[in-house]
Amino acid sequence: MLRSTDSRKLTPPRAWRVIGKGGGSRTWRLCAITLPWQRLARPWKAPNVWSHLGLFNPLYHFNTLLTMTFLPNRVVGISEDIGRLYGRWLGSIDERLDAPDCDRYELCRTVLTEVHFPHLSGVDPATLPLPTQVLLAQMDARNVTLEPEYYAEIDLERYERVKPLIWLWEMFDRSALAENVHLGVKFRRLLAKRIFRKCGHNFKAFHHVKMSFGYNLEVGDNVVVHRHVLLDDRGGIRLGDGVSVSDFANVYSHSHGVVEGRDITTPVTVIDAGVRVTYHATVMSGVHLAEGSMLGAFGVATKDTEPHAIYAGIPAKKIKDKPDESRRPPTPDPLADPEG
Ligand SMILES: CC(C)(COP(=O)(O)OP(=O)(O)OC[C@H]1O[C@@H](n2cnc3c(N)ncnc32)[C@H](O)[C@@H]1OP(=O)(O)O)[C@@H](O)C(=O)NCCC(=O)NCCS
Repeated sequence: MLRSTDSRKLTPPRAWRVIGKGGGSRTWRLCAITLPWQRLARPWKAPNVWSHLGLFNPLYHFNTLLTMTFLPNRVVGISEDIGRLYGRWLGSIDERLDAPDCDRYELCRTVLTEVHFPHLSGVDPATLPLPTQVLLAQMDARNVTLEPEYYAEIDLERYERVKPLIWLWEMFDRSALAENVHLGVKFRRLLAKRIFRKCGHNFKAFHHVKMSFGYNLEVGDNVVVHRHVLLDDRGGIRLGDGVSVSDFANVYSHSHGVVEGRDITTPVTVIDAGVRVTYHATVMSGVHLAEGSMLGAFGVATKDTEPHAIYAGIPAKKIKDKPDESRRPPTPDPLADPEG
C-alpha cells in the first residue's frame, strides 16, 4: 500500500542542505523550491498541483480507491416493544412541552427526579437526610446557577425560558440513558427545537455537548454535533446545512482582551454549509468557515477559510483544496427524524 512513511525515506534533509549551499542541478533546484518536496515524492497526494495544471491525477484517485472504503452508517434495530416504550416517553415530554401553560422548570424537575431518583419522586424532601435534600434540589434548575448566567450581556428573559431545558439536557447526559444513541439523539432533538434560535431538520447531538446561552444558536438542516463538543454561543454561532462538528471540538464566539480579561468581544462565528470541523479542532470567535471547507484534527482556525479547502495545524493554514471528486449518491440516515 502506498504510505507516506515510505516516501519520507526519500526526503533526505541532506538534499536540502545541498540546495542551501547552491548544489544540485539548476532544474532540480528550481523544482525543489517551487514545489514542496512531498508533492514530488508523493504525486498521488497532490490533487491541487495537478488540477492547477488542468490535469486529472490518476495516482491520487487510485490511492483514494486503495485506502478509502465507502461506509455509510448502517441501520441498527431495536425491538418493537422498546421502540414503542421510548416513543411513549418522548411523546409525553414533547406533548407537555407543547402545552401553552407548560411550566418548563417543573417539567425539568419531575423528569430528572424520575430518571435519577425514581424511588424519591413524590417523597417529601423534608423527611430525607440533609445531603439527600441537597441532592434532590439539583433536579430543579431554579436551584442551580450555570456559568453563562454570570455573563453581563445575557438576555435574561430569553435565558429564563431555555435554562430548564438546557439543565434537562445536561443532566439527562449524566444519567444511564445518555449513551443510548437511539434514545439520546431523539431526546436532545426535541429540546434543541425549543432552545436554539433556529433548529433545522434532522439535528443530531451525541452526548455531553455543552452550550452557553443556547438561544444564540442557529442550526441548519442535517447538522451533526458529536460527543463532548463545546458550542459557546455567547456572541452567536451559525451552523449551515450539513455541518459536522466532531468529537471534542470547540466553537467559540467570545474572546477576552489580553491585558484586561473583562474586555470582551462577542462576534458571531459562522460555519457555512457542508463544513467539517474534525475531532479536537477549535474555531475561534468571529471566524467564518466557508462552504465545504474542512478543519483538520486538532487544528485551530483563527482566520476565515476559503470554500472547499482543507486547513490544518495551529494556527490552521490551508494545506490543499478538496479534490474535484464526484460525490457519492445520498444514503439513508438511520437516525433521521421520521417527521422530517
Ligand atoms: C486534515 C486532513 C483532512 C488531511 O487529510 P489528507 O487530505 O489525507 O492529507 P495528507 O495526509 O495528505 O496530509 C497533508 C499534509 O498535512 C499534514 N496534516 C494532515 N492532517 C493534519 C492535521 N490534522 N494537523 C496538522 N497537519 C496535518 C500531513 O502531515 C501532511 O504534511 P506533509 O505534506 O508535510 O507530510 C486529515 O489529516 C484530518 O485531520 N482529518 C480529520 C479526521 C476526520 O476526518 N475526522 C472526522 C471524523 S467525524
